[in-house]
Amino acid sequence: MRPAKSIYLDHAATTPVDPQVLEAMLPYFSEQYGNPSSAHRFGRQAENAIESAREKIAQLLNCARSEVVFTSCGTESDNLALRGVAFRALAEGKRAHLFTAHTEHHAVSHTAEQLARLNLARVTWLAPEPDGTLTPEALQKALGGLASDEIGLVSVMYANNEIGTVQPIAALAEVAHAHGALFHTDAVQAAGQLSLDVQALGVDMLALSAHKFYGPKGVGLLYLRRGVSLYSAQTGGGQENQRRAGTHNVPLIVGMARALELAYADLPQRVAHYTHLRDRLIDGVLSRVSGARLSGAEKARRLPNHASFTFEGVEANALLMHLDLSGIAASSGSACNTGNPQPSEVLLSLGLPPELALGSLRLTVGKQNTDADISYVLMTLPTAIERLRAVRQAQGIT
Ligand SMILES: Cc1ncc(COP(=O)(O)O)c(C=O)c1O
Repeated sequence: MRPAKSIYLDHAATTPVDPQVLEAMLPYFSEQYGNPSSAHRFGRQAENAIESAREKIAQLLNCARSEVVFTSCGTESDNLALRGVAFRALAEGKRAHLFTAHTEHHAVSHTAEQLARLNLARVTWLAPEPDGTLTPEALQKALGGLASDEIGLVSVMYANNEIGTVQPIAALAEVAHAHGALFHTDAVQAAGQLSLDVQALGVDMLALSAHKFYGPKGVGLLYLRRGVSLYSAQTGGGQENQRRAGTHNVPLIVGMARALELAYADLPQRVAHYTHLRDRLIDGVLSRVSGARLSGAEKARRLPNHASFTFEGVEANALLMHLDLSGIAASSGSACNTGNPQPSEVLLSLGLPPELALGSLRLTVGKQNTDADISYVLMTLPTAIERLRAVRQAQGIT
């Protein structure tokens, strides 16, 4: 039976494609379908579309067109940043030294782990504060370990996908540069909510993914500051100025540019809407559910659309199922396999005990959410938690 309600509160996972974005993309599937690398008019049409998308994006990021590298997703952009620097260091007879944290998305942390395992780079893991913040002081201390024959690369995400904490990127980038290290930020969750002015942020590289800001899935980009040279991680043709081989996905690139344009056209109103709904969620859940804790940073230093909690005595998988049956699509901070729930690495790395890390819930609001949606969640969630706790008590699980 379908629930009467259907409330989507998982915008950190993905967002629907905006109808205006879809409209912009449609001609490039079967009307203007040329390969931008072809020399004839079909190719030139496609190339013009790509270059006008690049121009729009460069304006929004406050960078040059040549500094925008199109990729297939946020994961690929992060991989390109880390591997590209590590491979370049090796090509120059040096070694990269990465400074990153276990609170990063796996696109960064697993890439760093693999580079270290294969002895292609050295990795220093940074220690965040309990709310996930990485302080300039902690980075400063860690960078003391950068050897003179190493190429340093700091990779710290702009905003955390699981706990919503926003990092002091400009201050961190300044510390990295003072030590001669490069600075990459995964801005996948920040797009459409925080400023992406790469000059103000002072970053050398920045990763984005269109499906987080009402664009299509399967397309992303890496901002790459002029003068920072990467060794291409994906080899093949000479696309993207030798930095990323592979035929361009023209409709998706056009869609990403349109989505970014729309996201920043009404940013203040969008952020005000998100913040209002988020704050109602945070205040409502903390006051109605005993043993509830906000995970991540306080309101002023978290993503405008992001509320995340841990609940004592609740198992996230069961709670998500319960909410789904009530028509609420949410997620937990943990990567759960049905029947084999694993506590979130992010929460564990912040010092939470596994029992508590297993009881996490993430609610991320979007453009279409309304006050009525939030009222429904605030009515449904406390009852769901009470019921789940009662079942565990009856089973003798504490
Ligand atoms: C912070 C962060 N980085 C990277 C990614 C990966 O992006 P994509 O889905 O485009 O590969 C995600 C997606 O959830 C994310 O939240």
